[in-house]
Amino acid sequence: MKITRCVHSLLTAVVVSTGFTFFAAAHADDSATASVITTGANAEQIKRGEYLARAADCIACHTVDKAKPFAGGYPLATPFGTIYGPNITPDKETGIGTWSDEDFIRALHTGVGKNGEHLYPAFPYTSFTKLSRDDVLAIKAYLFSLPPIQQKTPENKLPFPFNQRIILAGWKLFNFTPALWQPDEAKSVEWNRGAYLVEGLAHCQECHTPRNGTMGLDHKRAFGGAPLAGWTAYNITLDMESGVGGWKDQELVQYLKTGSVPGKASAAGGMGEAVEHSLQFLTDPDLQAIVTYLRSVPVIHNPIDTKPRFAWGQPSQDDATLRGIAPVSVSSVASGGAELFSGNCASCHSASGSGVTDGYYPSLFHNSTVGASDPNNLLMVILNGVQRHNKGTSDKKGDDVFMPGFADHLSDAQIATLSNFIVQQYGNSATPVITAEQVSKQRKGDSGGFLSSIVAFFQGLWRRV
Ligand code: HEC
Ligand code: HEC
Ligand code: HEC
Repeated sequence: MKITRCVHSLLTAVVVSTGFTFFAAAHADDSATASVITTGANAEQIKRGEYLARAADCIACHTVDKAKPFAGGYPLATPFGTIYGPNITPDKETGIGTWSDEDFIRALHTGVGKNGEHLYPAFPYTSFTKLSRDDVLAIKAYLFSLPPIQQKTPENKLPFPFNQRIILAGWKLFNFTPALWQPDEAKSVEWNRGAYLVEGLAHCQECHTPRNGTMGLDHKRAFGGAPLAGWTAYNITLDMESGVGGWKDQELVQYLKTGSVPGKASAAGGMGEAVEHSLQFLTDPDLQAIVTYLRSVPVIHNPIDTKPRFAWGQPSQDDATLRGIAPVSVSSVASGGAELFSGNCASCHSASGSGVTDGYYPSLFHNSTVGASDPNNLLMVILNGVQRHNKGTSDKKGDDVFMPGFADHLSDAQIATLSNFIVQQYGNSATPVITAEQVSKQRKGDSGGFLSSIVAFFQGLWRRV
């Protein structure tokens, strides 16, 4: 069944690419229908669509300039090259203004573009395929209620053979099953809502589940933690040591809502973006439903983890030793770990590393980024800093969470020395010693060479065939 559908799409792709001009012309006439559909959308559907689009974080990958929401151009780094999120405003020339309802549903449910071409799974249709037609149409109604913005999407930077969309037909055969979400009647309403959010709209697996040789999600290790352009999206199963089993429900809700739980973790990188653009806008019942569902996924344990990430470290015992070190004014020439820490980090995180009491500057011990056995996120945070906007609530004004990045200020060797110092003082005894080479790799957001990814891709395909 699945195979038939994919082969069908593949044939469509071949036929359509030869008949492109014809199709483009034929579809141009649909624009009248599209605008009728838009005016037909009612205010309530548009509002619902706005909430759903937020939960799905459509804006994150489709916006590069905040002043031009959904106008595309956002670069997504993949192991194969850069793919740009296209313009999805209702502009008729450079956006999706001429798309019919069925075109839009087909894109989200099957990863096929307007002209029948296969879309790259950097667009998480592998999750969006689970969304109901009603929800997809509400999202479209919302997008079509926004002003059209004319902005051409840059060409993807993918080398041969990855620039051939036809290979995606092969990818889909092994890694994609188009299917709507089927509620499980035996489970609670809350569990089902959580599953729909986690597996569909909020697409948590796209970041937190590792990928197989062909870059498909490895569902056997669902939510088990995965590399993400230099970062690690941690294991979020409820395993006590490797996952978030030691977090209270309320803490998980708070993390998703604010990106910060002092004494446990804060959200930077992709998670910071997910909180900023998407998760903080969800209602409390929806966030609670996400946690209820997460509580039911099979736990995954990694033997290297002997304590939860957040449980490592304590205020430096040798406070006096640290305090004794005079702050180094020209921090960029410092070379020792303690000096680098004192000159660059202690002003906010305090000399003992305990941060400030209200948690705005978090403690560096009992901090999952420092206590993780793999130091990827620690290095990425030092290189890139943290930028996250809290929208605020009825009783609290919105604010910006900001830590500067040190990429331009510290060398690879200095960052390696500083990180080893931090891990030793506040972190996990299982973290391997960090080298300058590793920092250099992290700088490029590189989690494996390009050649090795090509080899892995074809090995994976071959293994599966
Ligand atoms: C993780 C990043 C990401 C998220 C989140 C995302 N998209 Fe996309 N989307 C992409 C990329 C990348 C492409 C281009 C794929 C390609 O070129 O094959 C794309 C393509 C599309 C297309 C096809 C446009 C065209 O011109 O062919 C549509 C429509 C679309 N996305 C709508 C959405 C909607 C609606 C949402 C939210 C429900 C969303 N996207 C969320 C990354 C994303
Ligand atoms: C765009 C990628 C991305 C998406 C989507 C995403 N995450 Fe994350 N997540 C990350 C990254 C990266 C981290 C590590 C952040 C850090 O160290 O600052 C993280 C961290 C977390 C943590 C903290 C774990 C710890 O021990 O510190 C939790 C909990 C979490 N994510 C839950 C979720 C849930 C639930 C969803 C879906 C609703 C989700 N994430 C969606 C990338 C993502
Ligand atoms: C100007 C103040 C400031 C300076 C200087 C600073 N930080 Fe931070 N740091 C922050 C803030 C703010 C956060 C984010 C808190 C949040 O997310 O709620 C943060 C977060 C972190 C985190 C946790 C990130 C995560 O993903 O969970 C680590 C680790 C960290 N800082 C290490 C350092 C190191 C190492 C240095 C020195 C190189 C440093 N910081 C310098 C303000 C600062």
